[in-house]
Amino acid sequence: MNIKNNTIRSFNKVFDKKYLEIEGGELLKGNIKISGAKNSVLVLMAASILSEGQINLFNVPRISDVLIMSKILGAMGMNIKTNSNHLEINTEKISPPSQDLFFDLFHALRVSFFCIGPLLARFGKARIPLPGGCLIGSRPIDEHINSLKKFGVIFKYKNNYLSAKVTTPNKRLLGSSINFKCKSVGATETLLMAASLAKGTTTLNNAAQEPEIIDLANMLNLMGAKVKGAGSECITIEGVETLKGCDYTVMSDRIEAGTFLIAAAITRSNISLYQCEPNHLKAVINKLELCGCKFEYSKHFLRIIPNQILNSVNITTSPFPGFPTDLQAPFMALMATTNGTSEIKETVFENRMHHVKELNRMGAKITVRDNIAKVVGVNNLQGREVIGSDLRATAALALAGLSANGKTIVKGLEHLERGYENFSEKFQEIGASILKK
Ligand code: EPU
Repeated sequence: MNIKNNTIRSFNKVFDKKYLEIEGGELLKGNIKISGAKNSVLVLMAASILSEGQINLFNVPRISDVLIMSKILGAMGMNIKTNSNHLEINTEKISPPSQDLFFDLFHALRVSFFCIGPLLARFGKARIPLPGGCLIGSRPIDEHINSLKKFGVIFKYKNNYLSAKVTTPNKRLLGSSINFKCKSVGATETLLMAASLAKGTTTLNNAAQEPEIIDLANMLNLMGAKVKGAGSECITIEGVETLKGCDYTVMSDRIEAGTFLIAAAITRSNISLYQCEPNHLKAVINKLELCGCKFEYSKHFLRIIPNQILNSVNITTSPFPGFPTDLQAPFMALMATTNGTSEIKETVFENRMHHVKELNRMGAKITVRDNIAKVVGVNNLQGREVIGSDLRATAALALAGLSANGKTIVKGLEHLERGYENFSEKFQEIGASILKK
């Protein structure tokens, strides 16, 4: 199979034509099962490169990013079998990626760059395309690169490819003490994976504390790694010689759960979420409570009961446990329909406000200056044809459509399908008038 020609471009051709048609104003009612986390499963798949045995992942969301990541691993010789939400990854025939085979695949999926840590740990070398910037920001990789250099890796850049080589005499990464300059989820994950097979002990200081980091550490430990402190700012990893296969259930998707909570609030509806982790959503629940939503919860269950009139609140995005940048756009759609004026400050990515223009086309009153949006709530949004520019912006426009008067067409479905499993089907189940066309 010619992977280069056969994948992303043809994918996009199909997706480009698809859109959501939403008739606004329906009350939502019922229960939603939250899927496995997109931002965890992709990294767990990268971590399988480290394993000498079979990895079985359960609760895997059926989203297009998982499909692309499967193709990337498949192109490295790994055998991937999918059965509903179960992924069987066999690494018996794994080989280092060769030449230009994956250029389109790697470029379609930024997280593919995180394979660099496990590839260096397993083979002592890696040659992969440099990820470009993306719409939400420049998204540098300096933290990944500078930290791996301390492990004995040298890098060369030529023709859009980054070649990396371990320079220690036995080609094994050398554990080290790393002080990240900024809190990066991806850099923490890259280094966690690399350090698991490195010689000696690694400490990661100023590590990201997202639940997805804990999920990765839990799976690595099941594979035989020795990781301590994941979830705190200082993680210690004692390198081991080999890692074995394991069975692992992916954590639930806190961003999908947050999206449904905000959907309930924007439509002033009561809904319940199960197989979710209320503990991962404290910052979001706190802001929704301040708006006038009530909650009932137990360990893996959450019910939201919004007041009919909701108040505006201010938010500032920040790394976990702060308010997640991935819910900034959906929350802005909600604030566009509340009583009063709110300020929404984006501090994680420099360019994540593309939804503002489209929300304003639906009648919202939002102005942006220095990455701070001032949102003046209006009585009703109006259905329009709008275009989502990235995954979360598209979700935000769909939520706006659920609350708007009349019909909304949301284009950019290919973004939504990257990260939400059965988005429209799940909303249909709870009474939304939403069709995938
Ligand atoms: N940064 C650097 N240098 C680096 C790495 C990051 O300066 O080497 C900066 C970034 O520019 C950004 C900040 O650090 O300003 C945080 O970036 P981070 O590395 O934490 O982001 P990421 O790992 O690339 C993951 C999620 C994103 C999510 C962010 C922040 C995955 C696959 N992606 O990205 O998810 O927004 O963490 O929480 O885990 C999404 O799901 O829509 C999404 C974009």
